[in-house]
Amino acid sequence: MSSSVALQPDAAPIVACTISRDVQNFDLLIEDMETELGEAWGDLSIDDAVAFFGQPEADTLEFVAIAIDDDDEEDLAKVAMTVKTAVDKGIKVVVIAEEVSPIALHQLLKMGAAEFVPYPLPEGALHDVIDRLRTPAPSLPAPGDANAAIRPKGDREGVIFAVHGLAGGTGSTTLAVNLAWELTKVEKERAPRVCLLDFDLQFGTVSTFLDLPRRDAVYELLSDTEAMDVDSFMQAMLPFNDSLQVLTAPNDMLPLDILTSEDVERIVEMARNHFDYVVIDMPTAVVQWTETVLNAAHLYFTTLELDMRSAQNALRMVKALKSEDLPVSKLRHVLNRAPKFTDLSGKSRVKRLAESLDITIEIQLPDGLKPVTQAGDHGLPLAEAAPKNPLRREIQKLAKSVHEVNQAAVEAS
Ligand SMILES: Nc1ncnc2c1ncn2[C@@H]1O[C@H](COP(=O)(O)OP(=O)(O)O)[C@@H](O)[C@H]1O
Ligand SMILES: [Mg+2]
Repeated sequence: MSSSVALQPDAAPIVACTISRDVQNFDLLIEDMETELGEAWGDLSIDDAVAFFGQPEADTLEFVAIAIDDDDEEDLAKVAMTVKTAVDKGIKVVVIAEEVSPIALHQLLKMGAAEFVPYPLPEGALHDVIDRLRTPAPSLPAPGDANAAIRPKGDREGVIFAVHGLAGGTGSTTLAVNLAWELTKVEKERAPRVCLLDFDLQFGTVSTFLDLPRRDAVYELLSDTEAMDVDSFMQAMLPFNDSLQVLTAPNDMLPLDILTSEDVERIVEMARNHFDYVVIDMPTAVVQWTETVLNAAHLYFTTLELDMRSAQNALRMVKALKSEDLPVSKLRHVLNRAPKFTDLSGKSRVKRLAESLDITIEIQLPDGLKPVTQAGDHGLPLAEAAPKNPLRREIQKLAKSVHEVNQAAVEAS
């Protein structure tokens, strides 16, 4: 340790300083600073710190570790001032706190402190903090970087959309596949990283719609999620055209309860850590882990059609969710094969359906006729097989709008 930073002109540049009333109260910090930085750090008293930041010797500082205990709370303003002066100079601040109240800590973090570590320091905590301070903020992959989508970074907090068909054949998989694909294309400059999870374990057809083989690795992954790591997760997935990663349903028809809520939680968490958008195609059946996905999802799309079975299922679904106190507000009802604008009797039927179910139908998707089924048979998303199809245009609009809402939320935070 350099006990007086200002008096060490020949030593290696000082990259960090501890700041405290008396550093001897924090001997574990001294040890850790020595381990991490050798001689390249100094110590300052709280009274001297602000003046020191104004001197040229302070220019090499990467960060300061301000160590305080409950006695410092009496003069928190001075500590806060120290934090602020450092931050204004572009020096990062770590607060090391022993028995300091949450309110005091909150104030220091509000002044711009980057990190807080409790004292006594947990094993390796200072090391981790320094690592984080030195890592530049993550950025989205560059355009045209084909490998970007499969390079796991673990730096995301993806947005989760689930799609659940309220009756078979109402277009859940069609929506999930095309929404995921449109999301990869919403921004040319910074293409979002998107993954599509087929949780319809028995009749999942994502693989058919994208012409991907079903792999044994999927079963292995699902049957032991506790052992899952980034590598096994990424390996179980297949890329579609490089930019979309797909976890297909397993090869064999599996009982839906082979997955537990914990399994689903782990997989979804893993996916959202590595992708900007996670789209999940759900089975029509309501299972134990439907709730798990609903809770994790930002939006939960339910597809239905203008017929009695959809209406009855929708009613039962909403009732079930309400009775369990589940977040019904995340549901977005999607009427597929909706009547055309000009079909007035059709439109009044839609209105009556919504009224009788006491739901709002937020999204209406048109019938795209034969080209939609053909695209599926050819294993291509609509954007590739029938870009002008009215169904494609609507799903493209939906992708744009959810992306814009998400961007606005990110910017506001
Ligand atoms: N809006 C639509 N227009 C034309 N065909 C559609 C539309 N939505 C779905 N389809 C077709 O209906 C069939 C069932 O759709 P799918 O997405 O597999 O339903 P689900 O996953 O809900 O069972 C598929 O052949 C699909 O191509
Ligand atoms: Mg399906």
